[in-house]
Amino acid sequence: MSKVSIIGAGMTGSTTAHWLAEREIADIVLVDIVEGMPQGKALDLQEAMPVIGKDVTIIGTNDYASTAGSDIIVITAGLPRKPGMSRDDLLAANAAIVRKAAEETIKLSPDAIYIILTNPLDVMTYLTWKVTGLPAERVIGQAGVLDSARMRAFVAMELAVSVENIHCYVMGGHGDEMVPLVRHSNVAGVPLNKALPADRLDAIVERTRKGGGEIVSLLKTGSAFYAPAAGIAQMVEAVLKNKHLVVPAAVYMQGEYGLTDIYFGAPVQLGRTGVEKIIEYELTDAEMAALKASAQGVSENIAKLNLS
Ligand code: APR
Repeated sequence: MSKVSIIGAGMTGSTTAHWLAEREIADIVLVDIVEGMPQGKALDLQEAMPVIGKDVTIIGTNDYASTAGSDIIVITAGLPRKPGMSRDDLLAANAAIVRKAAEETIKLSPDAIYIILTNPLDVMTYLTWKVTGLPAERVIGQAGVLDSARMRAFVAMELAVSVENIHCYVMGGHGDEMVPLVRHSNVAGVPLNKALPADRLDAIVERTRKGGGEIVSLLKTGSAFYAPAAGIAQMVEAVLKNKHLVVPAAVYMQGEYGLTDIYFGAPVQLGRTGVEKIIEYELTDAEMAALKASAQGVSENIAKLNLS
């Protein structure tokens, strides 16, 4: 059985464990600084396994030793947003937490692939890549699966069509400047800008961009966790099963879309070695300009880390 360690056993971390356990694709280790909490959640989830008929071992711990030899390290440790906060407001506090998680885990799992969730996402993924010293294809950020899933959900609600028929691609940084690509998104092969009137499409694009904030203002005490965690589980499965699955994710750009030295959301093919390929769409000048605006914000935040 493969092994997946999840650093941060809060809402997203424990929900990721839940989605993964249902898939029966890996044993799971949940790590958190809060004493007893990861142990309690892991035991509770372990006790659910007979009910759902899955033979998976789930361990909760405050000690990184149990993560040794992981195939995948997921980092969700950090502070979530509160109402009125942007993802960028979390930068300094979460950088210290993610740095520690990366340093501790890479010593024990040098062959692991990293999937990052902590916000601000693109910056925390860049930080993990730097701290671990891993090849860029083995450090990936989860944002695009979530952003695209939100857009898919909104289109499905609007058209009353199965979510399975709806394919959406959201590129760019994981912030309100993200770039939902309406020409490349489609409903059963019909491009979204042909399937929906312009005003409804604009409203869906706007709701997608602000999708995280919509949940934060409803929850008041935290941020989204079901859909982000489902996004991680899909990426973990794509890697462990070597599926060559194309999903939008935060990846290190080396000239793609005219961008360098930045982690940024783009469609990528995932397999057992991590990122196998970055897909380059043909973009209009307007789409390209929107991407550049999003990239500028991410680069400014990466610079604040003072890494190089
Ligand atoms: N080591 C391990 N765990 C830590 C550390 C640390 N140094 N610091 C904090 N944590 C743990 C907290 O104890 C908490 O259990 O990280 C967990 C975070 O869980 P939640 O507060 O429930 O937050 P969550 O909703 O899971 O979001 C975590 O993911 O989506 C992003 O913006 C979100 O950055 C946030 C992260």
